[in-house]
Amino acid sequence: MNVSKRSDIAPFYAMEILKSANEMADDGATIMHMEAGEPGSGAPAKVLQAAHAALDNCQLGYTESEGDPVLRARIARHYQDYYGQTVAPNQIAVTMGSSGGLLLAFLAAFDVGDRIAMAEPSYPAYRNTLSALGLEVVGLPAGPETRFQPTVDLLKQVDEPVHGLIVASPSNPTGTMIPRAEFEALANYCDDQGIRIISDEIYHGITYGEPAETVLAYSNSAIIANGFSKYFAMTGWRLGWIIVPPDLVRPIERLAQNMFISPPTLAQHAAIAAFDCREELDRNVARYAKNREILQRALPEAGFGDLAPCDGAFYVYADVTQLTNDSENFCREMLKATGVAATPGIDFDTKRGNHYVRFSFAADGATVERAAAALIGWLQPK
Ligand SMILES: Cc1ncc(COP(=O)(O)O)c(C=O)c1O
Repeated sequence: MNVSKRSDIAPFYAMEILKSANEMADDGATIMHMEAGEPGSGAPAKVLQAAHAALDNCQLGYTESEGDPVLRARIARHYQDYYGQTVAPNQIAVTMGSSGGLLLAFLAAFDVGDRIAMAEPSYPAYRNTLSALGLEVVGLPAGPETRFQPTVDLLKQVDEPVHGLIVASPSNPTGTMIPRAEFEALANYCDDQGIRIISDEIYHGITYGEPAETVLAYSNSAIIANGFSKYFAMTGWRLGWIIVPPDLVRPIERLAQNMFISPPTLAQHAAIAAFDCREELDRNVARYAKNREILQRALPEAGFGDLAPCDGAFYVYADVTQLTNDSENFCREMLKATGVAATPGIDFDTKRGNHYVRFSFAADGATVERAAAALIGWLQPK
């Protein structure tokens, strides 16, 4: 029987390392998980209370395909309160994680064969989902000189026109942000050229200096993807949202009706409370900030090369050129020798990824401290 060519996409190496780490843990090894981008804490207390109340009092049937109107209105209020941006609730669609939102956005905005640009390195699901949908990925080789982010200059160097640009600020895997002036220039250039921006804003709320700016400030035609998995620490609840310009409201509605019927109802009831948990969630961010400092001190001491300037998110993207030219093998050896699980750069950058490793520091402080000591002990034995 036929197996589709479209499903022949790369694996997510972070998950392959996770599997090996779990096998080692089953055999009794102590593992320090720094491969997955998952908050170490669970959902905030008020979210759990709201979920219990919904279980007791609600029927939990389907909602409208674009989501519960109360949640959509609450998300719209969040944009007013947090960014000072007015968003019409009908331009917001609640989705199955931001992953579901990105899928709907790609389907609504692009046709088979369209060319979509993104920085290399980028979150691997962009590349792999686009290629499964029959779209062409155009990698913009972005290094430390542009904070690993796309720029107008990089876009201008592409020889054939592109139809879309994905940006993420802060980014996964580097945590870097696009400077405001460059973000505005990118949005203006893309609007002029008819290039649709998809701005993945899932790491907003987790920043260590300037807060992140939404693309809504610069563009009327961009799509925003965001969700409850990172700042709101609700990964397993599988809830996100997209904000789309008026021309995409109806296409998104039709696609969501047919592909998902509706996003998870229990999670939607609970998520309404998430926006009122800022104090608890900001304590998580303070913990990430401490973990970030631990790694920024320990990784150079262990012998890792340059670290990307991590402005936000919970990742350190470390240059390992001096240590290996095969980042996957390096991660496997590091896991065996130290119990530290990290993700090889080949997940994020098919060309230069062998020279990088990504460490997630969303875990608790004690785990990050132990990992730091283990790496120094492994690479700098006394
Ligand atoms: C940059 C980025 N976008 C999107 C996602 C998907 O998150 P979710 O589907 O849980 O909202 C992730 C998850 O790690 C991510 O790192």
